[in-house]
Amino acid sequence: MRIIIKPGDLRLPLDPSLSFGRNAELVVEVGFGDGRYLSHLAAEFSDANLLGVDVSLGSVWRAYRRMLRENISNVRLFRGDARFVVRDLVAPGTLSRIYVNFPDPWPRKKHLKHRLLQAPFFELLSTRLKERGSLLLTTDHQEYYQFALDEAASTSLYSVTESDPPPATLTTKYAEKWREMKKDIFHARFEKISEAAPHPAIIKKTDMHHSILEGDLSAVTTFEKQIHAFPGGHSIILEGFRDLNNESLIFKVRVEEPDLVQEILIQAWQKPDGVFVSLQPFGDPLATRGVKESVHAVTDFLASKGLVVKQRWI
Ligand SMILES: C[S@@+](CC[C@H](N)C(=O)[O-])C[C@H]1O[C@@H](n2cnc3c(N)ncnc32)[C@H](O)[C@@H]1O
Repeated sequence: MRIIIKPGDLRLPLDPSLSFGRNAELVVEVGFGDGRYLSHLAAEFSDANLLGVDVSLGSVWRAYRRMLRENISNVRLFRGDARFVVRDLVAPGTLSRIYVNFPDPWPRKKHLKHRLLQAPFFELLSTRLKERGSLLLTTDHQEYYQFALDEAASTSLYSVTESDPPPATLTTKYAEKWREMKKDIFHARFEKISEAAPHPAIIKKTDMHHSILEGDLSAVTTFEKQIHAFPGGHSIILEGFRDLNNESLIFKVRVEEPDLVQEILIQAWQKPDGVFVSLQPFGDPLATRGVKESVHAVTDFLASKGLVVKQRWI
């Protein structure tokens, strides 16, 4: 069974029996870095399914090698944004605990918006946590720590207990760094006491992503960058190029949806009965609304070059 969860294989929300091979209590760690704490959690909660999320590919790779080295079987790793994981991978009311150790503090005023632990995230999380489920925060950054306490308090959805950090949180790479510098380290448990209104999640499309046009692809000789907006996001057709055999056009598209950015390839093939536009598996895309909209955007671009739309997947 794969340790690294591939977007293309994903069920939304995550199906634990497929991703972990068993149904068990779900525990998440956000920003696992080199995976040290995940390895500790895997041993401490051997009966739980542990899902680690980190935006950095380097972190995923380091943690992956650690899981292999230490022969850990109850951890899965996902490269991406914690907001996406909590909203779209975790089914409502199923999360026992979520650990956040030394989150990026984004200290500059103009960057505060990047902080994870803000009221909207606490609200979303309350809908994914089980009854009395909790978020455990450990940080060296007193100002972010107070910010997180204030943001959670503003939602009235959590009861907060402050304490000394659990010893294992003081052994992460960043904890060691800050302890060497003799910095104080803060710890709080945010326990869910109430729940915000339901938060909708991304719906995975299972139907076909294609359209068919009439016309001659070789008539398309120029390309201009295209931007296509849709409710909740936009896609940008960044590049268009011809394949070596001159049988198709390939478009590189960047799809931006809430907390999910994907780069995908869409190909337009010249076939005897028309030009067939479809998503390519390159990049292991997650089939979202934005991906479907991107097929529309490429179809519209080809239509603007004189081809005629015969059939469009809606
Ligand atoms: C300061 S490091 C701490 C790493 C580790 N927890 C430790 O204590 O050594 C913050 C980590 O969070 C990850 N990260 C930052 N923002 C994130 C987000 N929105 N979702 C998931 N991971 C994130 C970074 O890639 C990085 O690995």
